[in-house]
Amino acid sequence: MPKLYALKVNHLFYDVEYFTSISSTSTYLKNKKELREGMTVVAAKQTKGRGRDGKKFYSPSGGLYFSFVLKPDEKIISYITPLVGVACREAISQLGGDDVRIKWVNDIYLDDKKVCGILAETKIIGEDKFVIIGVGINTAKPRFGFNKKIRDIAGIVCSDVPNENLNTQILNIVEKYYKKFNKAQLLDKYRQFSNVEGRSVIIKSTGEKGKVKGIDDEFRLVATLPGGTEKTLLSGEIEFTD
Ligand code: BTN
Repeated sequence: MPKLYALKVNHLFYDVEYFTSISSTSTYLKNKKELREGMTVVAAKQTKGRGRDGKKFYSPSGGLYFSFVLKPDEKIISYITPLVGVACREAISQLGGDDVRIKWVNDIYLDDKKVCGILAETKIIGEDKFVIIGVGINTAKPRFGFNKKIRDIAGIVCSDVPNENLNTQILNIVEKYYKKFNKAQLLDKYRQFSNVEGRSVIIKSTGEKGKVKGIDDEFRLVATLPGGTEKTLLSGEIEFTD
């Protein structure tokens, strides 16, 4: 049974359910027959946390795991992912981290280690198109450490701030940028805090190697391949090789 969860959020995210354990907060929302904008689900741990591209998202007790529902206008739907990335970066940096960056497309890095992952999925019910956004943040060192696969890249947001406060802060910042949507401002922030420019990378889906030129006006990644061809990616994953 979910419990009520007292997040001190503004107006949009007032409908909050809390689980001490759940398979996945995003799966839970995806399986609902009815969705409303603002619905939020928080869990103390997930047994089947999901990441992008069908990967697992390790979600032991202590971390912050939550998902929420937006019903954006079609014109801004493709900018929701970077909007949440910018909001998470901002909230995490307020905890005191000096070097909090966004790794395209939507991972948050602190001192070169991934501390937060974001998963955005759409669900259509009748005529309505919803976006379910799931956020997972390593806010505590896992009792048995990170597993081998992620040990080298995963980091922790170390702070005395309770998860509820970080959760509240992220949702309030999302609400701020969402209600007064401003693409130019978002793009400026996304570019300012991106950590990909000039980096040598492998494009995971194709195995191609390249150097990142930057983020274009649609938040796409532009990379220069050996030989000088430019490649523009709308989604996907890159791995740093330098
Ligand atoms: C990624 O890094 O690939 C995205 C990870 C997203 C994890 C969050 S945790 C809350 C929500 N529930 C899930 O099962 N996944 C997202």
